[in-house]
Amino acid sequence: MLKTHTCGELNAAHAGQRVTLAGWVNRRRDHGGLSFVDLRDRWGITQVVSDPAAPEAARNLAELRIEYVVQITGVVRVRPAGQENSRILTGTIEVLAEQVNILNAAKTPPFYINEEVAVDESLRLKYRYLDLRRERMTRNLVLRHQVVAFIRQHLSERGFIEVETPILFKTTPEGARDYLVPSRVHPGKFYALPQSPQQLKQLLMVAGVERYFQIARCFRDEDQRGDRQPEFTQLDLEMSFVERDDIMNLIETMMTALIGSVGDRRLHAQPWPRLSHADALRRFGTDRPDVRFGLELCEVTDAVRDSSFKVFSEAACVKGLNAKHCGSFSRKQIDALTEVVKQYGGKGMAWIAIGADASLRSSMGKQAGDELLASLVATLAGEPGDLLLFVADAAETVNEALARLRNHLGDELGLRDPQVIGCCWVVDFPLFTRNAAEQRWDPSHHLFTSPLPEDLPLLATDPGRARGAQYDMVWNGYECAGGSIRIHQRAVQERIFELIGMPMDVARERFGHMLEAFEFGAPPHGGIAPGIDRMVMLLAGEPNIREVIAFPKSQQAVDLMAGAPSPADSQQLTELHIKLA
Ligand code: AMO
Repeated sequence: MLKTHTCGELNAAHAGQRVTLAGWVNRRRDHGGLSFVDLRDRWGITQVVSDPAAPEAARNLAELRIEYVVQITGVVRVRPAGQENSRILTGTIEVLAEQVNILNAAKTPPFYINEEVAVDESLRLKYRYLDLRRERMTRNLVLRHQVVAFIRQHLSERGFIEVETPILFKTTPEGARDYLVPSRVHPGKFYALPQSPQQLKQLLMVAGVERYFQIARCFRDEDQRGDRQPEFTQLDLEMSFVERDDIMNLIETMMTALIGSVGDRRLHAQPWPRLSHADALRRFGTDRPDVRFGLELCEVTDAVRDSSFKVFSEAACVKGLNAKHCGSFSRKQIDALTEVVKQYGGKGMAWIAIGADASLRSSMGKQAGDELLASLVATLAGEPGDLLLFVADAAETVNEALARLRNHLGDELGLRDPQVIGCCWVVDFPLFTRNAAEQRWDPSHHLFTSPLPEDLPLLATDPGRARGAQYDMVWNGYECAGGSIRIHQRAVQERIFELIGMPMDVARERFGHMLEAFEFGAPPHGGIAPGIDRMVMLLAGEPNIREVIAFPKSQQAVDLMAGAPSPADSQQLTELHIKLA
């Protein structure tokens, strides 16, 4: 080893010891004829100071530039009183340099590594290896490792085994486009990269594995967002002989322990609330509710049905929310809220502000009438000082606009404490959503999800009313995991293919191996897949998942460091039997 200690390890107990450190020059300054160098490695920073008694080392120290890679031998001493630095772990000591060995020089980096300053993200991604030297990024990498290590240990102790599944496979649809890989030896044929190991983990259940997990890389060609990457990592998990509650309890116990032991966030509430899909939409307008705060929605459609205020009485759905203590908002502040509603599809927003003296200001004008205003105030439990906000439209639009408005207000009012993780379960999703354009049903989760046992008969009579044995784990308004009990019988699976409009010959060609496996003693089984990137993002308090992935793609799905994707040379294309259009 080129070092005896890390840069985060020395303290007063080491005083008098000769040590060798190695790392990068984080900063150098000269003061009173001495050179001070902050030496950095993954573990921390140690101050090295020149010693007039070792003139060659002192000269070498004075020559060091930022980010040079150096090895320094010296003696640890306690810093003089008043010169301690409580911001670093080694702030009570310094190392008196006896020997300074430059291992490698460095050009001036394109951005500051030793300061937390805003840097254009494309520059950070181009020089990601420098970006990752920054303390914040190192912390994120370590946190991610701790999350994965915790999960591996927790599940191993409970009889799960980790099994690797292929990356070169066949389409495993999860609602996105596949990444395809052309075959050289089979002209015109392609592998698909897995959108998830869904089918393979189910086949492992048929194989008798019973308790499987994998830290699995998944690939999805879809539009990028802050919480989406073309390749990402799931904790993929599957169990045999289980019911929905078994999986949810296992995950809730594990994640509660994880939040308690890794990072510095707190859990909002325990046990986690469980909401039906219908209740989540009714109360929060979304199936991804942030349960850290209230401001719940309240439907008033029936109450306004006979009113003379046409915007309300003629709308398919009217809902409101009570922004507590916002009654003194100015017109400008209220207009900003209206903009949020419009941004998410609403035509506008109506409001009633209740003064401290209970007087009402409202956007609805004379047409609404005092009676309507009073009844809305009563329905939303409005009190002096409150601001009531309403959206009228088709139900989906109302929910979307108010859900966004609720989160916006939550941010504005400081109700979404980033130190807190608010977890909940959403269950009882409809098994299908109607695809009106294509005149068929689309699976709400994926096509292997079982209907709830009591809703199985509905597949024959009224599929739109069937609920799926699906469960989503939601953290702070992000969908962090989705899972379900699966179909394990061929006839039921074939009925699903039929309902989603997949001709049987296509279904057999694509999923024949699944249908066949179900006939060889497939056990009842189910599972889930929490997204590692999203969970680590929230545990780290980062605004997007790129910050917790070592080498992420840009928003345009490009690797800016290496320049991927890139053209293939013509010989490669010929070997792959590919002609570019
Ligand atoms: P689902 O498609 O819901 O389910 O995905 C599970 C979880 O994976 C994460 N996730 C993503 N993270 C980053 N970038 C993406 N593009 C991305 N897409 C999904 C989310 C999501 O909740 N096979 C099923 C699971 C199962 O049924 O067991 C599946 O993949 O956190």
